[in-house]
Amino acid sequence: MTPTTASAPAKIILTGEHAVVYNEPALVMAINRRAYVTVAQTRGDSVEIRSNDLKQAEHFTLNEGPEGHSRKSSINRLQPYLVLARQISRKAGYSGGFKISIRSEIPISAGLGSSAAVGVAMSAALANSLDVKLSRDKISKIALESEKIFHGHPSGIDNLISSQGGLLVFRRNEGFLRIEGPAKLRLVIGMTNVERSTAEQVAQVAATVSEHRDVGQLLLHCIGHLTIETVGAIREGNVQAMGRLLSLNHWLVNALGVSHPTVDRLVYVSLEAGALGAKLTGAGGGGCMIALVTSETEHAVAQAIKREGATPLLAKLSKAGVQSES
Ligand code: MEV
Repeated sequence: MTPTTASAPAKIILTGEHAVVYNEPALVMAINRRAYVTVAQTRGDSVEIRSNDLKQAEHFTLNEGPEGHSRKSSINRLQPYLVLARQISRKAGYSGGFKISIRSEIPISAGLGSSAAVGVAMSAALANSLDVKLSRDKISKIALESEKIFHGHPSGIDNLISSQGGLLVFRRNEGFLRIEGPAKLRLVIGMTNVERSTAEQVAQVAATVSEHRDVGQLLLHCIGHLTIETVGAIREGNVQAMGRLLSLNHWLVNALGVSHPTVDRLVYVSLEAGALGAKLTGAGGGGCMIALVTSETEHAVAQAIKREGATPLLAKLSKAGVQSES
């Protein structure tokens, strides 16, 4: 059987991370870094999952053994994907084995949705290999299963954007809307290279909201409103207003307890270097920040991020969601 490959993009959350867990809207964009997963069917019922980037390979049994994992376990970066092989095999009535290999351009535990991109690409490659026809929507739903094992109670925004691509506004209990704005967004990502756990950051917000219920709820609701205003700014092509909203979002989500001194420093230096707005992106606690720039300020902002010891990366919109590569 010929191996089959699928790929899916990383993401940046423009506004609304954490609030989206509480059913507030969030704005999210797929970017030009992808995860690639190749699947080959094998004899027997052993599932080998190999990650070139982690330099790690693990062997599982398709029909036996636990689905979940202990978060502290050294295999926790591969085992959650087993649930995808099991689900899709069940759909196809397949009981053989797989050799699955992952190659990714997306930094891990950085807030760019690497686990979701791998899960989405893997679901698509498994489905192609077994000739199971799945819509993007269905692929996203299947990939949510490994996301739950990784992150606890994810909103589903990462698997959604990775399967759909483009620029979307998403509300957990309602679904998503595609945004086609006149504003061409130019963003620099600042990678702190500080790894963190999404589940821990989500728990940190839950603790803040439970300790300061009224203030916490107001902050989350404010962030939701801010997303709606940001969508308006994009549609009007008003990048200045969008920049101000992004910075406002940073301080609001910061108040929920999830920023990090390095992220805050990168936000300050980006604004000083001329960014229109800057904020953390993703779960926070390290990971990445984003700065909205123009062609005139892009270089200065990237240099300012670099001087702080972080890695700047130019983020381009990826219209392509999950796709077959072979
Ligand atoms: C993670 O990319 C975004 C969070 O809002 C968590 C989630 O939505 O599941 C922090």
